[in-house]
Amino acid sequence: MDETVRTEPGTGQPASRAAAVGNDGVAQGDGGTAGRPLGVGIDVGGTGVKAAVVDLATGSLVSARVREKTPSPSTPEAVAETIARIIERIEASGHRTAGMPTGAGLPGVVKDGWLRTAANIDHAWMETRAEDVLERYLARPVLIINDADAAGLAELRYGAGVGQRGVVLMLTIGTGIGSALFVDGDLVPNTELGHLEFHGHDAETLVSGTARERRKLGWKAWAKEFDAYLDRLYRYFSPDLVILGGGVSKETRRYLHYLTPRGPLQVARLLNSAGIVGAALAAAEARGYRPPVSAGVREAVPAG
Ligand code: BGC
Repeated sequence: MDETVRTEPGTGQPASRAAAVGNDGVAQGDGGTAGRPLGVGIDVGGTGVKAAVVDLATGSLVSARVREKTPSPSTPEAVAETIARIIERIEASGHRTAGMPTGAGLPGVVKDGWLRTAANIDHAWMETRAEDVLERYLARPVLIINDADAAGLAELRYGAGVGQRGVVLMLTIGTGIGSALFVDGDLVPNTELGHLEFHGHDAETLVSGTARERRKLGWKAWAKEFDAYLDRLYRYFSPDLVILGGGVSKETRRYLHYLTPRGPLQVARLLNSAGIVGAALAAAEARGYRPPVSAGVREAVPAG
């Protein structure tokens, strides 16, 4: 079943109908979002494709978050068609997205507009330039970024990592394990730490959210293994902060108390929206946009 979740701005009013372009090249809304810098963020995951219009000044969603199931097989054309349909649905709800920076997070190594690895998505993605396919289907330039890098960027600019200097490591725990590494706020892209060898296996095949379900592990047993994986990351990188995100970050109450991190650890604040927000921001930053330093989404802290 498709699901549509309403989020910001809280007025209940349909937001922008037209997107004017501001001095910094970033589209600005009118109506409920007058003068706001807006972007479109798309998050392509192993199970769902999600998108929304994002207020880049605050990192909050100004349209519904529209989600459809990831098509199977998840070929570039099938996924691009799904995204095009989602954007049509967003437009039908009153948000004109033309002219907005548009970014898509994809689950693999991203280089020069190509997806170079495809652990949890159809391998056909590696045979065609992803940005070209998306541009063709969406009739606009689309920047692609690794999905975990996008989520990390959102947490660094608006969430749990705002203002954090030094080394920050964000992990997204879901279908796979994604990683995003930052040094003084700058992204070191495509770190792929979910594929570290762990107990003789690719780590994500043992300790991702999907692996927990596949292996029928309870939260305690899973957390014990995840804790050992996490400990290795602390030893390799000596991070000043680790942020845990992805689908499993909604469940922190079930496992956080089993973890014994040897350094600072925080739960992601943007939850399901981080990938969307970060993809939109990456596209806007590529056009020279920078969010205000004080930006921060503070209200979505989960108990845990
Ligand atoms: C992919 C990463 C991705 C992660 C989370 C891994 O299997 O290799 O690129 O970030 O899954 O989706």
